[in-house]
Amino acid sequence: MIDRSSIFPLGIGTWKIDKDHFDADLEALLTSVSGGQNYLSLYMLYENGEIVRQTRKFVDVAGRDNLFINTNLEGKISSTADVEKQLDEYLDILGISYVDSLEVHHPWFSEIPLTEVYGAIKDLVSKGKVRYIGISNAGIDLVKQLHQEIGLDFCEGLYNLECKRCEDVGILNYCREQDIRFFCFQPLRRNRTAGRNYPLLLELSQKYQKTQNQVILNWILKEKKIGAIVKSTSKERIQENLASLAFTMEPKDYKKLNGFRAPEFDAVEIDWSGKGGITIDQLANRFA
Ligand SMILES: NC(=O)c1ccc[n+]([C@@H]2O[C@H](COP(=O)([O-])OP(=O)(O)OC[C@H]3O[C@@H](n4cnc5c(N)ncnc54)[C@H](OP(=O)(O)O)[C@@H]3O)[C@@H](O)[C@H]2O)c1
Repeated sequence: MIDRSSIFPLGIGTWKIDKDHFDADLEALLTSVSGGQNYLSLYMLYENGEIVRQTRKFVDVAGRDNLFINTNLEGKISSTADVEKQLDEYLDILGISYVDSLEVHHPWFSEIPLTEVYGAIKDLVSKGKVRYIGISNAGIDLVKQLHQEIGLDFCEGLYNLECKRCEDVGILNYCREQDIRFFCFQPLRRNRTAGRNYPLLLELSQKYQKTQNQVILNWILKEKKIGAIVKSTSKERIQENLASLAFTMEPKDYKKLNGFRAPEFDAVEIDWSGKGGITIDQLANRFA
């Protein structure tokens, strides 16, 4: 069992794992584990559960105890019974008896009050089926409410060089203060941030002789001190991402990255409660 304090800061993402060629991807994913990565993030939403089904092979080969398995409740939750039902599906597919953390993926899809959903999650903690409780894509008010009423251990949200809204609204700071572990997704914006060749990234990449993606990850992991879930099924890029932890930049350079803003992303109004506007998980994909 992996303790919360022993989680490797670079998580293993699963979006767009190739379900039709999983055996090739499996080899690469095992490279992540050899490199120390142990936080595996799973969503039944991806390919209608097919990625979770394929991932069972990975869990079997890597060893259940070598992984911290984070799972997500998906879609409409119309009764508290749905919570255990959705969790049981993960347990059955993966052939495991507990998950390390359980989160609500899109809080705005729940048809019953979230406090009831989280009450049901707490029952699953008591039953030993879930170890830690998390939330994904929540606004600051919801993060605070759930933490005060239920107690949160994890928070997952969009954060990268161009999309700093979770920090702007105070989520990163709150999580830091309350000892809630924040994991960001799309830290590389699927390689599109590097593809833009921002002068600052080019300058730091040249100065430290690292790739632009290594500069971004290094800043997120070492300066922001949050976790980052990255998907890669390329052995080379997994090694490249792991190596982003192996250098330190000068404080003035971290300061420049802290101050970097992407006005196009900043101009998008975020709908934190899912009332039909652009939700935080959609922001990173608004622009090329
Ligand atoms: N909670 C949520 O709502 C939510 C939303 C989105 C994502 N997520 C989770 O977060 C994970 C990460 O997000 P993401 O996969 O959308 O985006 P990402 O990790 O920023 O980018 C992944 C993409 O970038 C490529 N890549 C990885 N490392 C690279 C490198 N060093 N250089 C160049 N390209 C690189 C990968 O291709 P290769 O495989 O070919 O290397 C893949 O196409 C997801 O997989 C998923 O598990 C959660």
